[in-house]
Amino acid sequence: MQYGFFDDNAREYVITRPDTPYPWINYLGCEDFFGLFSNTSGGYCFYRDAKMLRLTRYRYNNVPTDTGGRYFYLRDGADSSADVWTPSWMPMKSKLDRYECRHGMGYSRISSARNGLAFSQVSFVPLHDKCEIHKITLTNESNVDKYIDIFSFVEFCLWNANDDMTNFQRNFSIGEVEIECPPEGSSAIYHKTEYRERRNHYAVWGVNVPVSGFDTDRQSFLGLYNGFDSPAAVFNGQAGDSVASGWAPIGSHHIKVKLSAGESKTYVFVLGYCENPEDQKWEAQGKINKKPARDLLEKYRTPEAADKALAELNVYWKNLLGKFTVEADDKKMARMAGVWNQYQCMVTFNMSRSASYFESGIGRGMGFRDSNQDLLGFVHLVPERARARILDIAATQFPDGSAYHQYQPLTKRGNNEIGSGFNDDPLWLICGVAAYIKETGDYGILEEKVPFDNNDELADTLFVHLLRSFYYPVTNTGPHGLPLIGRADWNDCLNLNCFSKTPGESFQTTANYESGVAESVLIAAIFAFVGPDFAEICRRTGRNDDAERAERAIATMIEAVNKHGWDGNWFLRAYDAYGNKIGSNECEDGKIYIESNGFSVMAGIGIEDGRAAKALDSVKEHLDTKYGIVLLQPAYKDYHIELGEVSSYPPGYKENAGIFCHNNPWVTIAETRLGRGNRAFETYAKICPAYREDDSSLRRMEPYVYAQMVAGKDAVRHGEAKNSWLTGTAAWTFVSISQYILGVRPVFDGLLIEPCIPSDMKGFTVTRHFRDADYHITVDNSAGKEKGIKSITVDGNAHSGNVIPAFSDGKVHKILVVMG
Ligand code: GLC
Ligand code: GLC
Repeated sequence: MQYGFFDDNAREYVITRPDTPYPWINYLGCEDFFGLFSNTSGGYCFYRDAKMLRLTRYRYNNVPTDTGGRYFYLRDGADSSADVWTPSWMPMKSKLDRYECRHGMGYSRISSARNGLAFSQVSFVPLHDKCEIHKITLTNESNVDKYIDIFSFVEFCLWNANDDMTNFQRNFSIGEVEIECPPEGSSAIYHKTEYRERRNHYAVWGVNVPVSGFDTDRQSFLGLYNGFDSPAAVFNGQAGDSVASGWAPIGSHHIKVKLSAGESKTYVFVLGYCENPEDQKWEAQGKINKKPARDLLEKYRTPEAADKALAELNVYWKNLLGKFTVEADDKKMARMAGVWNQYQCMVTFNMSRSASYFESGIGRGMGFRDSNQDLLGFVHLVPERARARILDIAATQFPDGSAYHQYQPLTKRGNNEIGSGFNDDPLWLICGVAAYIKETGDYGILEEKVPFDNNDELADTLFVHLLRSFYYPVTNTGPHGLPLIGRADWNDCLNLNCFSKTPGESFQTTANYESGVAESVLIAAIFAFVGPDFAEICRRTGRNDDAERAERAIATMIEAVNKHGWDGNWFLRAYDAYGNKIGSNECEDGKIYIESNGFSVMAGIGIEDGRAAKALDSVKEHLDTKYGIVLLQPAYKDYHIELGEVSSYPPGYKENAGIFCHNNPWVTIAETRLGRGNRAFETYAKICPAYREDDSSLRRMEPYVYAQMVAGKDAVRHGEAKNSWLTGTAAWTFVSISQYILGVRPVFDGLLIEPCIPSDMKGFTVTRHFRDADYHITVDNSAGKEKGIKSITVDGNAHSGNVIPAFSDGKVHKILVVMG
């Protein structure tokens, strides 16, 4: 069943009932201040780093789920019979006469009504400011006067989210606030825990009107034994004017308002992060310097100012999404490729794998491999930010080409606990840089000096970084001449050197058994896929010798795959530490894996001699399901110490034969290389959430975003998705649909046009902004082909070949492509 619908004109997903099968969230914020915001107003916000600078508290794995957020409580009535309810449904689960939540591009709106009182809220992070704005409007839709009490509510996090939920012996004593609620003007609650010593930042929770009271101490507001669904102050109809001292600081404003019949009132709430220079921290002893907060509240003091900021945000997104648009009969594909998939790419670029409803914000920082792949779906949106990100990532590479697997967004330093040893990592840097150069033509980035190991003394050009990346797998090969896998390759759970048997220890970072034997066919295939781009980069920057040497290394690697990476009907996955095959028909479980098959064919291996087609047919035969392609088959029934985490998951979940969506687009792309547009599109559509909107009760996750995993056919809940939002699926599906199915692909010389579509797709139109020109590309497939171009005209003139040059002239160019 469906819980809402796409409003394509508004670029919104409209949720029509609050009790969605899982909280359906949105992300507020585009640059450095972010909020997670669910359809019932749950979530939290942070500045730059979800672990270190978290403004509001959120309890993961809470009961009921998704309790805690920025809440508004309404008390309708002047006496003890007053009706108390929460217009976002949660936390009181109030019965509502109307409810709607619209998640849009960087903002969300909730509107609801009960007993003649209507409420609407719009929440967003304005461009360039470090705050959330929550503008709320109450309307009296009845024909009598109404006396309303509004109570706002946020619970502050004591900044370090990890410490906040563990170190109670200290934390229950350190909470501090200041309150500024004058009879005129705005009212503000300041959360200043730890400001007196080592912090120079505080949070502010303000509203643009005077208040009748406030609370800053959680127990005073809720009552010690009450949940968020029964706050004592609200039921009493009066805030306690409590001043937090230790325990749990919160921010609640109490506003009293009389609304005549038909009357509306609007309030602007601002939840912001403020910083002061070290020498300007104090206004007076013990009084924080409130200037930045006052400026912020002043800036958004009026509803008009808030509306203007929202309008600016809308323009920002309109421009961004104008860089790639799609028109096609298939509305589901068009809205995903044109809007939601790109939106999710922005979110994954910003968040990496840090903060979602499945990532707690205190675990992983930015991933070396993840962020490089996230770039692929983002680079056309804001190339300058992709450029900066590439330089950050590259600085966490070691001089031998290996890399810290993760780094912290705040310090940008490699993460020591995890270290390196994920031997696919280096290659993703080439992949990211190649995508950036193809998008922008900016070869200058190669000459940027970038540290190794975050050490300026070890800095060298980005080109040298790529060189080291390229040769890492070449110089670290095993007995079959295939790259050594290290702790794991793309599949974090294929841990062939770890042999972990102690509960709780990490499958990846346990003392490594340096077998020098365990090899990865996938890394070889990734090498064969990204290697040619590296060689091309060498050639185009006059490094011909490097180019030739690289090409020889690629040929040698492909030879190794041909000799030792083919199992008869598909590509092998790996060799374990004993030299045994993984992903082979000889295995009892895990006979066939998706990754090496998708990537080998993407790289073109086996296309000429028919093995590629055979491999993809095997994938279809053994791994395909109604909901997408599972990672491997048969699922591991037992734990294999020599394989690691992959065999730790119950069959059908995660890497153990789940539909791990990230690698499905590799098969999609591989299918387009064989010209099989029907099958390519089938694999695309199966994991695309918009096609499963009416199946939301089973899928459970948001119908507008990809999920990392959908339970595979061995699982009890086959078809149920998990880990929505932060997944490499976003970038790769965008690459697969935009560059390989619709076939508009940036290459070094321009835009390559090579559609590979279902034969019944009559055609489509794509507009693509590319290196300072706009390409309006219309593809006519009245011939009913899957692939193949009969003619291309550019601005009315016949064009030979299928690469359209980078015009870079600020103009619009019309491209007509006739398939045939
Ligand atoms: C997660 C990780 C990613 C890894 C994948 C497969 O998505 O973030 O780095 O490649 O799982 O294990
Ligand atoms: C990735 C995998 C997950 C694994 C984790 C380990 O996120 O998807 O299954 O547990 O890496 O770090």
